[in-house]
Amino acid sequence: MPLDTYDKIMMLAKRRGFIYPSFEIYGGVAGFYDYGPLGSRLKLNIENLWRSFYILKDNCIEISTPTITLYEVLNASGHVDEFTDLTVDCKKCNQSYKVEDIINNISVDEAIKENKIKCPNCKTNLKDAYPINLMFSTKIGFGKVRDAFLRPETAQGIFIDFHLLYRYVREKLPFGVIQVGRGYRNEVSPRQGIIRLREFSMAEAEVFIDPENKTHPNFNKIKNLEIKLFDNIKEMKISVEKAVDKNVINNQALAYYMILTQEFLYSAGVDPEKFRFRKHSDNELAHYATECWDAELFSERFGWIECVGIADRSAYDLQSHIDSSGKDMYALRKYEEPKIVDVKKIIPKMNELGPLFKGNAGKIKSILENLEMEDSKKITINFDGKEVEIPNNCYEIVETKEKKIGDKFVPHVIEPSYGIDRILYCIIEHSFFEGKEKDEEYKILKLNPKIAPIKVGVLPLTNDDRLVSIACELDDNLRNAGIETYYDDGGSIGRRYARMDEVGTPFCITIDHDSIKDNSVTIRDRDTTKQIRKKIDELIPFLKEKIDN
Ligand code: GLY
Repeated sequence: MPLDTYDKIMMLAKRRGFIYPSFEIYGGVAGFYDYGPLGSRLKLNIENLWRSFYILKDNCIEISTPTITLYEVLNASGHVDEFTDLTVDCKKCNQSYKVEDIINNISVDEAIKENKIKCPNCKTNLKDAYPINLMFSTKIGFGKVRDAFLRPETAQGIFIDFHLLYRYVREKLPFGVIQVGRGYRNEVSPRQGIIRLREFSMAEAEVFIDPENKTHPNFNKIKNLEIKLFDNIKEMKISVEKAVDKNVINNQALAYYMILTQEFLYSAGVDPEKFRFRKHSDNELAHYATECWDAELFSERFGWIECVGIADRSAYDLQSHIDSSGKDMYALRKYEEPKIVDVKKIIPKMNELGPLFKGNAGKIKSILENLEMEDSKKITINFDGKEVEIPNNCYEIVETKEKKIGDKFVPHVIEPSYGIDRILYCIIEHSFFEGKEKDEEYKILKLNPKIAPIKVGVLPLTNDDRLVSIACELDDNLRNAGIETYYDDGGSIGRRYARMDEVGTPFCITIDHDSIKDNSVTIRDRDTTKQIRKKIDELIPFLKEKIDN
């Protein structure tokens, strides 16, 4: 069978140090890949380009939290109960499958009972389907252990620091917090290579906004830009403003982050013809989302791939953590002038709460202190996902006057969440070109210079000591100026250009005999193959400008 594009790219990726299958000498495991020297550099460049969009353009702050996450956090967030895939096992060979990988649009239970679907491996009937949680579980410590999971998303680390971060930004909304790092999902039977990983790299932003003002300060600047949408029926190109006005996209904040995503992906080298936003239908929304758009990139083998999810998570996560931890994670909508108001304050009595709620009494006290008292005789709070009634001997109600500076509320969250590995693969695929010239096959990665792992190949034309000495000094100077180079003095110049083209190096500098006399070199452009002559002294600003633009 002829190789398809995916095979060709993965072979190139392995041969040239981008991507290797993990644990290969022990047989490998599906869902794990290593990044080699060039892959690591490419990934870092993509992540740093992403950071420049979120930190420089959008003024977000960045944090870094543990990848091992306490059970309590992921229980509160709903992942313990909801982060599941419906799974089915073969009656004979016991192979497990994610149901949606082998059944399309038919009732699962019915299909399995009537033996309409068989094990794709051994063609035997299947057992009943069951949900399986996708998180890798672990334990912290020995003896008295704490249950934990490897995080399935970086987002929860941001949510549980909200009260600290809100103080850090001096209590102003909106503000965004980003995190770049590893996420983990124990996929049932990943069979899509680098597209479905069990350990993967995410770049996530959690943007906290006032639910009464779901917009972005820069919305007016981008409202006329066109966005490419697919609502599961038809594709449309429409201005961001129209998409919001017609309620295709629910709010301006969500639309703003969709445009930021489109700009980032185009700037990273995604082919605009292989890009679209697709809206999640109600039955595919994650448990925390009220609306979600996927930025999908087209790949020849896998079709449209979800590479970014941009979700409106409403108040879901912060409210869940307030309910479970009892911490004050509210924001304040300040009045222009403070007001004196009559309030009924709840004064919890620890001597009654203590014996009744034991270890949870402190959390319950803090929830009660933050409760707005209404005219009800009973107090019921939401604690650990359950309604708990507080007996009236556990608190006192005191009527008093209080200076109030604003209304407390739970912020909403807009979350753009990027799968870096998938984006990296699709960028390679969209940049990959091959052909034949004078009976020689060639392959080129037309990577955007901004993200190319090597920016400049430094190639002395011959091994003449005088050329080598100029080339080595130039190579040093370029590196010290922050331009990644690759020094290559082996083989014909044609072969050396071809090696650089294959790994996406945008420029090659050749040092020839004229360089000794005129202090000039030749710069070859990867995409046009055109060559120009430049003075060595002018090279650094010239190349920097080319790379940055
Ligand atoms: N944080 C979004 C996701 O886990 O997909």
